[in-house]
Amino acid sequence: MGDIKARGKEEDDDKAEVDIWNYVFGYVKMAVVKSAIELGIADAIDNHGSPMTLSELTTALGCEPSRLHRIMRFLVHYRIFEEEPTCQASIGFALTPLSRRLIRHGERSMAAFILLESSPVMLAPWHSLSARVLDGANSPFEAANGKDVWSYAETNPGHRKLIDDAMACNARVAVPAMIEGCPEVFDGLKSLVDVGGANGAALSMLIKAFPWIHGINFDLPHVVAVAPEVDGIEHVGGNMFECEVSDYNDRQSIERLQ
Ligand SMILES: C[S@@+](CC[C@H](N)C(=O)[O-])C[C@H]1O[C@@H](n2cnc3c(N)ncnc32)[C@H](O)[C@@H]1O
Repeated sequence: MGDIKARGKEEDDDKAEVDIWNYVFGYVKMAVVKSAIELGIADAIDNHGSPMTLSELTTALGCEPSRLHRIMRFLVHYRIFEEEPTCQASIGFALTPLSRRLIRHGERSMAAFILLESSPVMLAPWHSLSARVLDGANSPFEAANGKDVWSYAETNPGHRKLIDDAMACNARVAVPAMIEGCPEVFDGLKSLVDVGGANGAALSMLIKAFPWIHGINFDLPHVVAVAPEVDGIEHVGGNMFECEVSDYNDRQSIERLQ
C-alpha cells in the first residue's frame, strides 16, 4: 500500500516537473497566435485556395523564412495549421478549423477578439491581480489604465474599435444560432432594443432575418455616433444607468419604448 502511494506521489511529481513549464511559458501560445493574425498567415492561405509551401508563404507575407518556419512549427504542433502535400509534391501549410477562426474577415473569425484580449491595455490589469486581491479599492482595469474600461475606450478610439470588432466576432457566432435555433421567439415582435449593442452588429443580423422588427441599438453616445447606418435600425445614444439620452430624437425613441 505504502509502495503504491509512494509511486503515485512520484508520478505526480514527474507530471508537475513537466506541467510547471506551462506556467513558465503560458503566454507563448497567445503571443504566437496573435503574431499569426498580425502577419495574416491564415488569410494568405485562404486567399491562395490550397496549401502553401514555406517559400510561397514567405513571399506572400514578405517575411524572413527561418523565423516564419519556427512560428509555423509551433502552430502545426498545436494543430492550428496542418502540413499537407502540395500539387508540386512538397509539403505545404493548410488551414484547420482552428486557423479558419484566425482569418480576419472570416465568417466565424475570432481574430479581433484575440487581438483585443492580447492587447497591452487588456493584459496590463492581469499584472496587478495580486495587488488588487490585497487592496480591492479599484478595479484591476482602472488601476492599470487610470479609467474604467468604457471611459478608457471613449478617449482611445483605437481601443474602442478593438472592442467593437471583438464583440462583432461573438455576435457572428451567437446570433445565427439564435436565428436558426429559436426563430419563433421573434414572431410577433414589433421592436427590439439591444442595450449595450455596440456598433449594432448583433441587431443587424437579427433585423436581416426578421425584417418586420424595428431595431433600436442603444449604447453610449460616442459609440453610436460612429456605428454604421443600417436599414431598419435606429441608433440611440445614452447611459443605461442614468435613464438620460443625448438628444431630442434619442429621447423620443426612448419615450416610445416606455
Ligand atoms: C460587452 S459589450 C457587448 C456588446 C454587444 N451587446 C455584443 O454582445 O456584441 C458591452 C457594451 O455596453 C456598452 N456600455 C457600457 N456601459 C454602458 C452604459 N452605461 N450605457 C450604455 N451602454 C453601455 C459598451 O459601450 C459596450 O458596447
